[in-house]
Amino acid sequence: MATIQIENGPAFSCGPHDTIMRAAVRAGHGFPYECNAGSCGNCRFELLEGAVHHHRADSPAYGERDQRRNRWLGCQALPESDCRIKVRLDAHYESTYPPRKLAAELVDIAPITHDISEFTFRVVEAQQALPGQYALVKLPGMDAPRAYSMCEVSDDGLTWAFQIKSVPNGKASAVLARLHPGALVDIDGPYGMAYLREDADRDILCVAGGSGLSPMISVARAAARSSALAGRAIHFLYGGRMMRDLCGEPMLQALPGYGERIHYHPVLSAQPLDGAETWTGRQGFVHEAAAELFGERLKDMEVYFAGPPPMAEAIKRMLHDNAVPQGQVHFDEFY
Ligand code: FES
Repeated sequence: MATIQIENGPAFSCGPHDTIMRAAVRAGHGFPYECNAGSCGNCRFELLEGAVHHHRADSPAYGERDQRRNRWLGCQALPESDCRIKVRLDAHYESTYPPRKLAAELVDIAPITHDISEFTFRVVEAQQALPGQYALVKLPGMDAPRAYSMCEVSDDGLTWAFQIKSVPNGKASAVLARLHPGALVDIDGPYGMAYLREDADRDILCVAGGSGLSPMISVARAAARSSALAGRAIHFLYGGRMMRDLCGEPMLQALPGYGERIHYHPVLSAQPLDGAETWTGRQGFVHEAAAELFGERLKDMEVYFAGPPPMAEAIKRMLHDNAVPQGQVHFDEFY
């Protein structure tokens, strides 16, 4: 166990297999982060004293300049001794539910589309999460955990469900495909800032593609049940290439208010369309559909989105072009 002292700030303990950022967040400190995977650079800190090494040696956000300045990535840095570090804490990153590492057992797998399934785990101790957050899941045989968003955490905090898309030739996908109920994994969470803001009294727009379905369903479900947001519309856009990719509607139909204040807008991007059926709905990309559907109204909406990187980038640009205030935009960049 190492002691990490933040210059002009608090000290906290970091366990032998923990990273400095995760240990800080577990201890309730607002250590900045986003992707938890060495990609965004948000968790960078300066090492003033002590020794660390990176779990992921080829972290994309880590460069020569960092090495020269003795800067490290908090989400990857494992301490080799007690350390003194310099980082600016920010209350924005303090967790409502500090993440914990918990053993979990797979209890159910339910297919949603041809390549998305819902995996439900039972954790050994109750742990809560906010709607829209994610967890790090360590699968059997994998050396590093993968970030997956929950679609639901049960009220008692014991059941965590994730909607996960299978990636062709993906290592984690291959492991997931072989899992059966009874399999044991480790879950570390919750993490993430793209959670439902119940205090934001605005109509809600959720935009998803791929396994971005999972956090957006979580946000939509919680918004539908929230008394603080009872008067607010919930618009859910889901983008897929073909009809077989579309999903989410049955989950929204199960919510009170579907068809009245909850609306599903599917969008297809590819031609020709699969199957014999004719698609008469929206075509194009979800960011274009959102701009067409809501235009000027976007500025007055609370926007949540999750999906593959090109989709997320296009949505970010579209929201910027439509002058949506940054504080109303919520997404986690952890791919
Ligand atoms: Fe550490 Fe993104 S690089 S949180």
